[in-house]
Amino acid sequence: MEFDAAFIGTGRVAWSLADAFVDVGYFVRFASNRTEEPLKKFAEEFMVDEISTNIKDIGKFTSKFQVCVIAVPDSVIKEVADTLAGLPLKFKTTLFMHLSGSKTTAELSSLKKMGAMTGSFHIPQSFPERKATRLWDLPVCIEASSVKAEKMMLQIARRLELKPVCIKPELKIYYHLAAVFASNFFPTIIADSMKMFELAGGNKKDYFKIFTPIIETTIENIIDNGPENSVSGVISRKDFDIIQEHLNALDSDISTREQLLTYIRLSEETAKMLGINLKITIYQKRRSG
Ligand SMILES: NC(=O)c1ccc[n+]([C@@H]2O[C@H](COP(=O)([O-])OP(=O)(O)OC[C@H]3O[C@@H](n4cnc5c(N)ncnc54)[C@H](OP(=O)(O)O)[C@@H]3O)[C@@H](O)[C@H]2O)c1
Repeated sequence: MEFDAAFIGTGRVAWSLADAFVDVGYFVRFASNRTEEPLKKFAEEFMVDEISTNIKDIGKFTSKFQVCVIAVPDSVIKEVADTLAGLPLKFKTTLFMHLSGSKTTAELSSLKKMGAMTGSFHIPQSFPERKATRLWDLPVCIEASSVKAEKMMLQIARRLELKPVCIKPELKIYYHLAAVFASNFFPTIIADSMKMFELAGGNKKDYFKIFTPIIETTIENIIDNGPENSVSGVISRKDFDIIQEHLNALDSDISTREQLLTYIRLSEETAKMLGINLKITIYQKRRSG
């Protein structure tokens, strides 16, 4: 089956996805973008047949593509879908998919009402630039509004050499939370660690010279052995005196009160994961002096 595509939005993910389509022999038949300059660059790079800054022009080329990729920010997916649903498109034979990790196919309900296949196709990777990066072997989370749409997205994923995982629309929020816990909070913890290093008299620019080995080893251990087998240090040793010293130090300075809360919360979570009852001990010991 042919999977020629139309792209609505020519931003960061669109570049990599269009590259993957073209790389395996499909064509980008139509592309639309809010502004002209990035649209022209995209069209040149991927030899796009037809382009327009007016999304409604897609209606003129409806017989040329089987997949319409809605590659716009999450907040405007529904608006774009509603616009497309009002155009004379070949809904029954076209798959419309957006690329969001948090939004579900519900955003495309107006297209589904028109009889279209709809779904979301989320690649859990960071795309910081409008530049084609290789997608081979990356996972893709597929969530579809029908068996037919899911089947088509699985075919596309496999053809693009991605590793598909299917997820139910009603559970997708947990998939997104998994991604948030895996990546969004980790930099915040490192930022806290940097702050402690500076309080110890260290220079921020030296931080990674010292801490890269422990960060890398921890990540490797988590991947190889699981989080519960990757905790070393005070909590796993049940070194309550040192934990108390940590709490005292964080509590003694107004500038580290946020880190105090983080420390307490994460200590509790870590202890729970390791089967150690720490919560009451830390808090009461500190509060009762
Ligand atoms: N970037 C990532 O790391 C990443 C990773 C996985 C999934 N995603 C998902 O991929 C999708 C696209 O994200 P992205 O990062 O590729 O976005 P992006 O780089 O910001 O590009 C967004 C595109 O949508 C257009 N656009 C912006 N506002 C619009 C509006 N109001 N109406 C119509 N078009 C509009 C932009 O046009 P202009 O060129 O005129 O600005 C641009 O072409 C999102 O659902 C996002 O959650 C992103």
